Amino acid sequence: MAKCIGVLTAGGDSPGLNAAIRAIGNSGLKAYGMRVIGFRDGFRGLMENRCIPLEGDILSGILTLGGTILGTSRDKPHKMPVGDKVQDMTEVMIDNYRRHNLEALVCIGGGGTQKNAYRLSQLGMNIITLPKTIDNDVAVTDITFGFDTALSIATDAIDRLHSTAHSHHRIIVVEIMGHNTGWLGLGAGLASGADVILIPEIPYDVKQVAEAIRRRRHRGKNFSIVAISEGALSQEDAETLVKLQEEKRAAKEEKDAKQRKKVDTALEEFRLRQATNTLRLSRELEKLTGLESRVTILGHLQRGGTPSAADRILATRLGVACAEAIHDQRFGCMVAVKGEGTILVPLSEVVGKLKLVPLDHPWVRAALETGACLGNARY
Ligand code: F6P
Repeated sequence: MAKCIGVLTAGGDSPGLNAAIRAIGNSGLKAYGMRVIGFRDGFRGLMENRCIPLEGDILSGILTLGGTILGTSRDKPHKMPVGDKVQDMTEVMIDNYRRHNLEALVCIGGGGTQKNAYRLSQLGMNIITLPKTIDNDVAVTDITFGFDTALSIATDAIDRLHSTAHSHHRIIVVEIMGHNTGWLGLGAGLASGADVILIPEIPYDVKQVAEAIRRRRHRGKNFSIVAISEGALSQEDAETLVKLQEEKRAAKEEKDAKQRKKVDTALEEFRLRQATNTLRLSRELEKLTGLESRVTILGHLQRGGTPSAADRILATRLGVACAEAIHDQRFGCMVAVKGEGTILVPLSEVVGKLKLVPLDHPWVRAALETGACLGNARY
């Protein structure tokens, strides 16, 4: 009997997901004679046993489509909202995995999905993962699919903001996604020639930013583009966050439930305040420079629409390598990108790590040496 493999897409959607699904389905069937089924809406579909066969017409015409034909969700197997409760539904998922007599389950996702998939693999399921996210922050892989498309969208958006900023002699502060890393913000800022680029890896000093804008003004440039990653922090906020995280760690170690609750509340307040960071920065820059400032939050535009050629190729390569790995019985691994090739990395080496922008990365140097301000006097 043909082996059956399951596929699900979890976490935020990312351009290239359908290319990966198509590659797994086609390569699985054509090269290895495997039957492939897809679970809807991430781990929730596995729990609810909602699935479709991934073959024939369903895989046709999807290579160029954004989003995911399977749907996605951020639901975690061990913390699944069911009715008005949040429950551990892992056992139900293991039952469904067995019911379909799956040879393997492919989980396509970012850092959170890798963690959830690893938990399932530790419970005996044959798991293999692919790295996707527009944030490009998954450890051990050179790149994740979705990043290239989002980078082009953000770059194009900043290009467009340039002419209006220039015409109105304004500052435009443009917020770019990326969660807690600056790959997208730095890449788009660099590609579009943003005057200021602020990323989470380099806490900024608003005075340095204002000074850079004032210097431009003295050179006759009455407008500036500030590209800020959504996770970028001012130096003061970065210090506060480190302090709160240390307090949380200590409260955990000392098993001090009251203190832990207090720190959790403080962290939640910090996050709420952080959500308005870009607006507050814009207002402060107006005060410090005397220029008018506007904010553009690119948001989910960066995740939508047609995947770039590079992402289609990358997702297809990863999907094909995934089918081969299943055929070779290689489980508990992520198919990672290494140069022109792919390698299988044990999930234990992937989870719990964040791929930050290294401060000596060539993009950082290129931004600085072409005159961008990174908001910090040390750079
Ligand atoms: O991980 C991808 C991402 O787009 C991040 O850049 C962003 O912080 C987050 O997802 C937004 O998530 P959601 O779509 O759930 O609001």
